Amino acid sequence: MKNQLFYGDNIDIMRGHVPDGSVDLCYIDPPFNSKRDYNRIYNNVGKEDKAQSVAFVDTWEWNVRAEKEYNEICVNEGGVFTKQTSDLIMGLYKILGRGSLLSYLVSMTLRINEIHRVLKPTGSFYLHCDPTVGHYLKIVLDAVFVGRGGNFRNEIVWCYRGAGYPKNDFGRRHDLIFRYSKTKEYFFNPDPVREPYAEATKERFKHHIGNVRKGKDFGVQQLNPLGKHPDDWWQIQPIAPSSKERLGYPTQKPEALLEKIMLSSSNEGDVVLDAFCGCGTSVAVAQRLNRKWIGIDITYNSISLIIKRLTEAYGEDVMDGVTVSGIPADMESARALANKKDDRLRKEFEKWAVLTYSDNKAMINDKKGKDYGIDGTMRVPERKDKFRDVLFSVKSGKVNSAMIRDFRGVMERENAAAGIFITLNEPTKDMRKEAASAGFYDDGYNKNIEKIKIVTIGEILKGERLNMLAADVLKKAERVAGNDEQMTLL
Ligand SMILES: C[S@@+](CC[C@H](N)C(=O)[O-])C[C@H]1O[C@@H](n2cnc3c(N)ncnc32)[C@H](O)[C@@H]1O
Repeated sequence: MKNQLFYGDNIDIMRGHVPDGSVDLCYIDPPFNSKRDYNRIYNNVGKEDKAQSVAFVDTWEWNVRAEKEYNEICVNEGGVFTKQTSDLIMGLYKILGRGSLLSYLVSMTLRINEIHRVLKPTGSFYLHCDPTVGHYLKIVLDAVFVGRGGNFRNEIVWCYRGAGYPKNDFGRRHDLIFRYSKTKEYFFNPDPVREPYAEATKERFKHHIGNVRKGKDFGVQQLNPLGKHPDDWWQIQPIAPSSKERLGYPTQKPEALLEKIMLSSSNEGDVVLDAFCGCGTSVAVAQRLNRKWIGIDITYNSISLIIKRLTEAYGEDVMDGVTVSGIPADMESARALANKKDDRLRKEFEKWAVLTYSDNKAMINDKKGKDYGIDGTMRVPERKDKFRDVLFSVKSGKVNSAMIRDFRGVMERENAAAGIFITLNEPTKDMRKEAASAGFYDDGYNKNIEKIKIVTIGEILKGERLNMLAADVLKKAERVAGNDEQMTLL
């Protein structure tokens, strides 16, 4: 099996592409119903403020999707849910009513149930969340897993330090990770994640080491030479702002956390699934620990970041072992993305077009409200230490020359160096004429950069990319030791 990266909603992907009983270990770190949108912070390139774009939306409302998902669980056609699951959701409906929390829980229940289906009988599931929703998710997990012979195994408390405290509360310094097994025959090996004993313990046990007398022992166990059995509270620091591991993705988890999960609950060659994979921490760790992996994310931001992370860490060759699915490959799928209506997504088509054409060099403009049709910005060097913007505007509907004139007006107002107008539909002759009349931009290296360039989605699909020097807006992933050889081969 090749490793698989999917761009899309995990419920559709799991149903369509992940067979029953095929996954050894699943870790998910879904949105926590935090009622705020998470931002991806770009490198600060010649600007005071860090530019941000919404990485994913974590606000939930009761809408048609929630209603459909709720009905699916209650009607329970074909008995795909346990009775406890349907009863639980109907019970929660009585308590919570049609609102944001129930919308979130219904969506999570559907996905947890699907994860249960794809796990092998020996498989384990780790669900990462925080105390805002943890207590609700745990009863959902019980309903899905315990009703079918699975079991709750651990509530792992990930504790960390951090800055800033709420004035009238204790500092909130932990996340929760619920660990469930699909059956009693689950795989678990603590040895690779045993911890060093405390000095005091070693001192106390000093005389016992290698000196256990049968029957007459001191009533205590000998120390295990591999270390202490790991506990269910883990002290792992979150990624510091200055950390080399940090990629600028808002909810990026430390690799050390995923390493502990994978080493104890899977073997080399096992299949690891992350259905909410963000910037790909689990994917990167699975790759390093020689596990097979399936990563799914609903935003193109994440998918492009994961590809970048993998190639920077392992070299371009790494992608030979990965199937990437769901990214528009032809006009039909590009049109489908443009017409997608999803309350959890904003401007996915525009993001895909800008990030693909700019080879991830542009920042996405995600401001709500009036953005004057600007979907992205790229910083280009003009003179030493001086940068100017190249603006991107993406259109998926009918286009006309007035749009080019408007775009030109915005470019002038913003003192932009150049503008890229991306269109799904073919531009008219008038539009081309209007764009050509804007003239050229000289960046000091190339005098003939079209000031307004019109690019069609068809051209992008054929592989056309923007050829301009630009500042790197994303942090680079660290190369994984042992992959330098690969690097020189490229
Ligand atoms: C908290 S982040 C995961 C961060 C990840 N653990 C990391 O270290 O980078 C949650 C991710 O779930 C994705 N997501 C939300 N709903 C989804 C869905 N229905 N299908 C697939 N991905 C989804 C979001 O786009 C976001 O990237």
